[in-house]
Order: sequence, then C-alpha cells, then structure tokens
Amino acid sequence: MRRTKDCLIIAIDGPVGAGKSTAARLLAKRLGYRYIDSGAMYRALSWKALREGLDLDDEQCLRRLADETCIALESLDDRELILVDGQEVSRQIREREVEQASSRISIHPSVRSVMVAQQRRMAEQGGIVMDGRDIGTVVFPDADVKFYLTARLGERAKRRYLEAQAAGVTRAVDKLAEEIEARDARDMNRCASPLRRADEAVTIDTSDLLAPQVVDVMEEEIRRKVAA
Ligand code: DC
Repeated sequence: MRRTKDCLIIAIDGPVGAGKSTAARLLAKRLGYRYIDSGAMYRALSWKALREGLDLDDEQCLRRLADETCIALESLDDRELILVDGQEVSRQIREREVEQASSRISIHPSVRSVMVAQQRRMAEQGGIVMDGRDIGTVVFPDADVKFYLTARLGERAKRRYLEAQAAGVTRAVDKLAEEIEARDARDMNRCASPLRRADEAVTIDTSDLLAPQVVDVMEEEIRRKVAA
C-alpha cells in the first residue's frame, strides 16, 4: 500500500443492481472520503446525446461531444448533483431511456478515454471511493483496495423494482430482470474495458446483506490492507 490511510483510492465494480452506489456512498461517508459515481458521467453524456438527437453508434460524433461537454459531480446536503454544462440533470439521467443509452455509448473506446481521463483527474488527491464497471481494472489498476459486488438476478431486479416504485413508477419485476440481463451482457461483452472482476478484487455477494453489513465487510478489508 503506497498511499496513506486518509487518501486511499477505493474501487468498486459490479453488475447492475449489485448495490454498488449505496455501499460506495455509505463507505465514503464513514471514511470521510469523496464518492464518485462514474456511471452518472456516462449517463450525463448520454442525456446530452439524446437531447441533441445524436446517433449512439457514431463514435466520432460522441467523442466530439464528450470533449466539448463539461460534466460536474457536486454534493449538496448528502445528495449528489450531476451537472452538464452547468445544468442540473440528476433526475433526468436516471430515466430509462438515458440508462439504456448510457450502456450503448459506453462501448466506444474514445468516449471511454475522455471519461477515464476525467475520473483520474478527480482522484488526484486520493481519498475517494469510485464505483462503476472498469474502476479496478482500467481507471485505477493500482487502487489501494478493490471490491467486486454481485447479487442474485432476482434480488437485483427486486431492488430496481423498489427504486422505481419509490420514484412513483410501477415496473414488472420480470421485465426489469430482462433489462438488467441485457445491460449486463452489453457491459460485460463489449471490447473496450468490459466489466470484469479485477484479479485482486474482494468479491462480496450482497444478495442477503443490508447495505451497512456490506460496508462493514469493506471496512474490515480496508483495515486489514492498511495494517498490512
Ligand atoms: O452504474 P450505472 O448503471 O449508472 O451505469 C450506466 C452505464 O454506464 C452502464 O450500463 C455502463 C456504463 N458504465 C461504464 O461503462 N463504465 C463505468 N465505469 C460506469 C458505467
């Protein structure tokens, strides 16, 4: 371990609905670190691409868009705000159409390289917890601690169902499970930085755990690494 205890880089990867963002947010809070939701950055760019009516298969055009778009992640009273060119889009980027688009635009290597450069800049001082699909493998291959979260498909679909319900939307659980499987397949089978478990990552199956229990396991692992 090269970094000191106060400025570690903690990477969390895993498929849709594995509980990454809930755990990452809570872990960051316990450690007094900054939480960075890398998926929100792909969603933010997708939101803009959709709004501009761009072709999601046109890599050159999306790369240009990524270059000229300012994506900012800020926090306000325990909430993360996502801004695209100064406009707050935190709610819009959670919409289904944007979600589907984010998985499509993220297959393009040149779009990814813009995002990765930005993610690395955000973490220059350390003291961050970042979650996504390629954090432990590509963004920070030298992260101090890496986790790979996973959960049973049925449980992940149930979580998405409850999230949608809380937002006032009723979705069929089996339809959600199908969408999760399709998005995972795209994220895992793309050529550029596919989702996979980093060799050194600690796997946590969150199916039967509450978020604080997941974070207890993470904290224990971090303590063990720091002590070593
Ligand atoms: O974590 P999320 O569901 O908000 O991510 C949305 C999409 O963005 C996901 O389906 C794939 C892409 N993504 C990625 O390719 N790499 C990341 N580090 C984070 C997200």
